[in-house]
Amino acid sequence: MRVNAWNGWDPLRHVIVGRAEGTVVQAPEHAVRRDYPDDGFPLGTYGPMPADMVAEADQQLDDFADLLRRRGIRVDRPTPVDFTRSVSTPEWTHESMFGCMPPRDLLLTVGNEVLEATMSYRSRWFEYLCYRPVLQRLFEADPRMRWEAAPKPRLTDASYKAGFWDTYNDLPTETQLARVRDYDLVLTEAEPLFDAADVARFGKDLFVQLSFVTNRGGYDWLRRHFPDHRVHAVTSTNTHPLHIDATWVPLRPGLVLHCGERLADAELMEFFQLNDWEIVEAVQPASWDHPPKLSFCSPWLAGNMLNLDANTLCVEEKEVRLAEQLSSYGFEIVPVPFRAVGPFGGGLHCATVDIERDGTLEDYFP
Ligand code: NVA
Repeated sequence: MRVNAWNGWDPLRHVIVGRAEGTVVQAPEHAVRRDYPDDGFPLGTYGPMPADMVAEADQQLDDFADLLRRRGIRVDRPTPVDFTRSVSTPEWTHESMFGCMPPRDLLLTVGNEVLEATMSYRSRWFEYLCYRPVLQRLFEADPRMRWEAAPKPRLTDASYKAGFWDTYNDLPTETQLARVRDYDLVLTEAEPLFDAADVARFGKDLFVQLSFVTNRGGYDWLRRHFPDHRVHAVTSTNTHPLHIDATWVPLRPGLVLHCGERLADAELMEFFQLNDWEIVEAVQPASWDHPPKLSFCSPWLAGNMLNLDANTLCVEEKEVRLAEQLSSYGFEIVPVPFRAVGPFGGGLHCATVDIERDGTLEDYFP
């Protein structure tokens, strides 16, 4: 076993796949608003996700893990804890945790390093505990592994803009987009905060999306933490930015998938175009008219795919048009039933963390 992954497309050897077991619609907190009046969790309520949804999602996650194993890829799984329990630091108590999906939010593999992100929800503060058994095993097995954790955040009230969710969703789209562009969202700059899933890895270049869960301080911390990389802060015309991996998706050297509804900022587009990268606009997702219950993801989750290598892509099985679009670029498509996992926070990319891919650090933007 060794830790080694510089990008999202080199041949995959070892991966973590999340679990839905025990996931909770988390107790109300400043960072996030959960309001599902039609599905049994109106604003202010919280509790375990429905058992039938958990069972279906876990079946799809287990089947996906088996599919990967049959292809010779080593798969590890997190160890859930009791997410219904309340958690505390010396400065606050929160009435619930959340779950151990999606692992991509928490762990970032860059070369031989696995970095635990700060996270920015109180309900996710202790999520790293679910991954410590796997990380401990990796640490023992690979003497070269660097195991890092970003500074644990305080997450006091000072980290959030009071009342943000009382008004944001009712603002006109143009006002929301101006707030995204100016980075005036729910997080303050009281301390560095980031989720790992706001980082897209393209070898020597790391692109960090400023979002509901990643602030400028988080970007700055990452920039200083990876001094041998070029680390870029990016935004897009997404009114609800939360994780970059359905918006700007690396496919292979020279090819990136872009969610056309969320125009990437001009500098980012230019950076890729100047380096002769092709930017593919994703087709409209099949899930457009069927948003799943209790899901906080958009239909663009379709683009949240896992590369097995630079020619092979795992795509949600119902996203047939996206699969056709990507086949036309020469990809072999592996269809994977995964819709039931969406309400637990993600697609095939979110639900996984690559631990080992063949390959070395390359500069794709020389
Ligand atoms: N929050 C993103 C998904 C990220 C994988 C979206 O809803 O499109």
